[in-house]
Amino acid sequence: MQPISRRHALILGGLGTASVLVGGTGLFWAANTGFVPSTGEGLTEPKALRSINGALQLKLKAAEGPAQIAGRQATALTYNGGLPGPTLIVRPGDRVKVSVENQLKEPTNLHVHGLHVSPNGNSDNMFVSIDPGSSFDYEYLLPKDHPPGVYWYHPHHHGMVATQVFGGLYGAIIVEDPIPIPVSRERVLVISDITLDGSGTIPVASAMDRMIGREGSLMLVNGQASPQLKARPGERERWRIINACAARYLKLRLDGQQLQLLGIDSGRFPTPRTVTEVVLAPGNRADLLVTTLKGTATLQTHPVDRGTAAGMMGGTRPSSATVDLATLVVAGPPAATASAVPAQPAPRDLRNSPVDGRRELTFAMGMGSGGMGMGSGTNMMGFTIDGKEFDPARTDTIVRGGSVEEWTLTNTSPMDHPVHLHVWPMQIVEQDGAHVNGVLWQDVVNVPAKNSIRVRIPFDDFTGKTVYHCHILDHEDAGMMGIIDAS
Ligand code: CU
Ligand code: CU
Ligand code: CU
Repeated sequence: MQPISRRHALILGGLGTASVLVGGTGLFWAANTGFVPSTGEGLTEPKALRSINGALQLKLKAAEGPAQIAGRQATALTYNGGLPGPTLIVRPGDRVKVSVENQLKEPTNLHVHGLHVSPNGNSDNMFVSIDPGSSFDYEYLLPKDHPPGVYWYHPHHHGMVATQVFGGLYGAIIVEDPIPIPVSRERVLVISDITLDGSGTIPVASAMDRMIGREGSLMLVNGQASPQLKARPGERERWRIINACAARYLKLRLDGQQLQLLGIDSGRFPTPRTVTEVVLAPGNRADLLVTTLKGTATLQTHPVDRGTAAGMMGGTRPSSATVDLATLVVAGPPAATASAVPAQPAPRDLRNSPVDGRRELTFAMGMGSGGMGMGSGTNMMGFTIDGKEFDPARTDTIVRGGSVEEWTLTNTSPMDHPVHLHVWPMQIVEQDGAHVNGVLWQDVVNVPAKNSIRVRIPFDDFTGKTVYHCHILDHEDAGMMGIIDAS
């Protein structure tokens, strides 16, 4: 066992009694909140909507209302009445039309996280605002060479993102493989967290929640608490896992089973990588193969040290416990061995390419600019990129379409910030002060506290304005977001 660092000690000290309440039920503070989840039900998956002949058209109605959460009736925000919303299954080259109807009491919009599509017009445009009672018709055209993988959709209206995502507005997007990977079955696992009181209602986030990033007391997989999955020994399953939590990092383990990672986000390794755990920052996805071994295994998330605001505002980090997310029961006659995973095309590698420009972006926390040390609006603390909070009227970064840039993402604060850039994935070339071995593409890149990371970005295929930001959604809402214009 490693010695406990001072930072760990601070975090553990801040845990109090919460950790002892964690059992096999997937919840932390049920005793405090009064909401009693129903656990152990068979895993259900969101309704799947599949493109036909290159087209998918659907309606997403965002509304506040009754929803089935953890096997109980609750009140949440839903797309089409479900939590998560439907799963969209598409192929490279498809045209996807989504009509978003806003039945919420506040504005919203839609972001197709990770998709390499235009940021303009009625495509993945971050400057669209859909007023309550009105609708907006989005249309996305995926390039013919769009990377296959796991993506997702969620609202992105500045100032309201954390509350709307935490409230339940998210769903999966699958871009299918041109060459299918042979598996016994595919599963979509949307992992999220939520807090519900005794009446099944989500309490308003506190100022401290908004500073640290709100983490729910109840962990959900496809809206269920500790659901059960069943398989036969020797089956190969494909799990598409999305971290849809507003702020919580996941360190996933499924001890006793064989795990192979196909890739993270839109990135894909040339051959599957054998792993024992997968860390997903908020917004990250994993494309995972599970080869089943007889027995019962528990999908767990383990503590992730994402820093702390202790010493700044007296804040402590809420999640330091291991939580059971689901149970996999492997029994019955053994399945025939699955055929080999086809080799994947070699990923593009920019590590030795010339770069057209270099820049540094600095992510910081400090006393806000709103006077009285309270930051903008109701935030206790300012969350900035290069010393500035988000301003929709200001373009922060201008790049040339088609260029390749190297960005150093520097975090001067005592908390990690998972940085997301829309439209264009990033290749991580340097982390922890060392060059990265292998080719690693992600669209959410964690920048550890008091540390920096270096990425290379090809600004291919599209021009226009979009954003980059911290995917701890409370930080994004508090101003840790900038506008980029590729022209
Ligand atoms: Cu996102
Ligand atoms: Cu952040
Ligand atoms: Cu975003």
